[in-house]
Amino acid sequence: MKTMTCIEDLRQTARRRVPRSFFEYAESGSYAEQTLQANRADLEAIKLRQRILVDVSARSLQTKILGEPVSLPLALAPIGMCGMQHGDGEILACRAAHAAGIPFTLSTMSICAIEDVAGAVDKPFWFQLYVMKDRGFVRSLIERAAAAKCSALVLTVDLQILGQRHRDIKNGLSVPPELRIGNILDIATKPAWALSIARGKRKTFGNLAGYVAGKKDVKYLARWTAEQFDPTMNWKDVEWIASLWPGKLILKGILDVEDARIAAKTGAAALVVSNHGGRQLDGAPSSISVLPRIADAVGSSIEVLFDGGIRSGQDIMRAVALGARACLSGRAFVYGLGAGGQAGVARAIEIMRNELSVTMALTGVTSIDKIDRNVIAAS
Ligand SMILES: Cc1cc2nc3c(=O)[nH]c(=O)nc-3n(C[C@H](O)[C@H](O)[C@H](O)COP(=O)(O)O)c2cc1C
Repeated sequence: MKTMTCIEDLRQTARRRVPRSFFEYAESGSYAEQTLQANRADLEAIKLRQRILVDVSARSLQTKILGEPVSLPLALAPIGMCGMQHGDGEILACRAAHAAGIPFTLSTMSICAIEDVAGAVDKPFWFQLYVMKDRGFVRSLIERAAAAKCSALVLTVDLQILGQRHRDIKNGLSVPPELRIGNILDIATKPAWALSIARGKRKTFGNLAGYVAGKKDVKYLARWTAEQFDPTMNWKDVEWIASLWPGKLILKGILDVEDARIAAKTGAAALVVSNHGGRQLDGAPSSISVLPRIADAVGSSIEVLFDGGIRSGQDIMRAVALGARACLSGRAFVYGLGAGGQAGVARAIEIMRNELSVTMALTGVTSIDKIDRNVIAAS
């Protein structure tokens, strides 16, 4: 892993190790992928101020998210089907996050179930919830997350209906992979991946398998899920979920100032400025372009987290400077997982940590609370 010097190295390795349908599932955005590309382009366009002759020998990356200490302003974002990038992917990523001193978020659409992860790690993790039409299922997921002592519930509010990702359709994405000739040939060239999946606890959506009783057929599960996303979901459902969840609530998928103001009044502990990594509304602005206005609008009434395009410590610096308390990493850690399991995720976090530390030094700041808009170069 030492020769993996940047997230792009992990991405290239993951591309070689993971079957095409799952690698492209991670890469893709919706439709023309304009928002996906804007997330990266707009981050890269933000230039940092080089400052000199400041004593930066003692630097600390520590901060707090939701009042809990973290070793850097980063958490792992919820990612569906991590367990198809590498067998037991969710457990491995959670272990790497915890070892690095940052939170891990388990997706509703994970391969390992809530209980699998809870039984395999020794610290609480966050659980991400999708609101399904079957509210009995939603209630049961909340109860299972509470029983597993999850330390926050991340309610995703930007996926009431699924944005189309062309490559998933073209690749015939399914879990486990459909055994058509192209897939078989592809998997035959990915033996390490196949072995890790064969050894993994589960081969399908762990959180659903028990609930959708008697319907173990994978195609049925996939169809059930696609039909279950609920277009009626509205702010009243947020109230209902908040009334069921005893702990901290995070609203993920806010991209508009008006929505951010409403979110701040719900009693949620945090919101995540996010466009779902460019996988939902294509044509939406990049996350980073709306972050400053949202941060200004909500002030200190709610914690502001950020995701979309984070691939380096420099990117974390940019987002924190523009008002985020911390960032969520999506694809960057997924590449690590595909490239090398737990060690790969650990390496992804380490790369971004080291980059942030050096970036702080070269911009003349020594602690996270000193990162503000002053570190951004005038354009
Ligand atoms: C492969 C993939 C699967 C995802 N699955 C989920 C999910 O199950 N739940 C969710 O709230 N967000 C999901 N997201 C969105 C991420 O949580 C996050 O918002 C996004 O990846 C951030 O952008 P980045 O990948 O550029 O860091 C997914 C993103 C990717 C790339």
